[in-house]
Amino acid sequence: MTFFGKQDGDVAGAQSCTQTSTPLPAYLRDTYTWAYLNPKTVPWLSSAPVVAAILWGNATRLIRETVKEIEPGSKVLQAAAVYGRFSTKLAQAVGDNGRLDVIDIAPIQVETARKRVAGMTQAHVMIGDASVARSTPYDTVVCFFLLHEVPEEMKKKIVTALLDSTRPGGKLVFVDYHKPMQFHPLKPVMSKIFDWLEPFAKGLWDKEIQAYAPQNDDVIWTKETLFGGMYQKVVAKRL
Ligand SMILES: C[S@@+](CC[C@H](N)C(=O)[O-])C[C@H]1O[C@@H](n2cnc3c(N)ncnc32)[C@H](O)[C@@H]1O
Repeated sequence: MTFFGKQDGDVAGAQSCTQTSTPLPAYLRDTYTWAYLNPKTVPWLSSAPVVAAILWGNATRLIRETVKEIEPGSKVLQAAAVYGRFSTKLAQAVGDNGRLDVIDIAPIQVETARKRVAGMTQAHVMIGDASVARSTPYDTVVCFFLLHEVPEEMKKKIVTALLDSTRPGGKLVFVDYHKPMQFHPLKPVMSKIFDWLEPFAKGLWDKEIQAYAPQNDDVIWTKETLFGGMYQKVVAKRL
């Protein structure tokens, strides 16, 4: 549900997950049906061992790096569904006194994510578009491996909307791909995989995540890289 360009999580959350207020974007349908929209592949691709393999054994470390930014009792937005144990780890980190809202633009992903956090009353999964700011800001917003899957213009919209969805004093955490060091043994492999399957990913090899954000003196950006530069964690702290 969109009001004046902002989305209200609770209202959107009340929708059936067979409906969506936003049509599926072309980049998702055209490029990622095999990964995120096909009911035959989603169940096995979403399993933790597959995620571990796709991230070259770094899933646990990358999730841990994200979770350590979460305060118990805080209100957290996860900007898109993530396979494996990511949402359950975030829900555990906010604890019973916090709240985790997970949004995803694809109904099948909302359904899958709901099953993953079933029984965790602090976790709420709903249809939503990460490129539209939420109506109520969050203490922490996390964007885990979404940016590399969207075209350049969408990267800008998502970074801008997620900054607007973060309260002053709060933080926005990105974990995603980054250009590996020059002689990284997996660099040629990743380059081929991106050219074949992930046409928008190399945007993050060429450009800093901060460069997708509007100029704003009230945001402090920090970045660290992991696994020989293949991954990055960028934290935007709103003053
Ligand atoms: C977070 S990314 C991938 C994360 C990780 N690679 C994995 O395998 O789980 C994938 C999700 O982003 C969702 N997505 C794509 N564009 C979106 C948008 N504009 N707003 C919210 N969700 C979006 C897709 O439906 C998909 O479920």
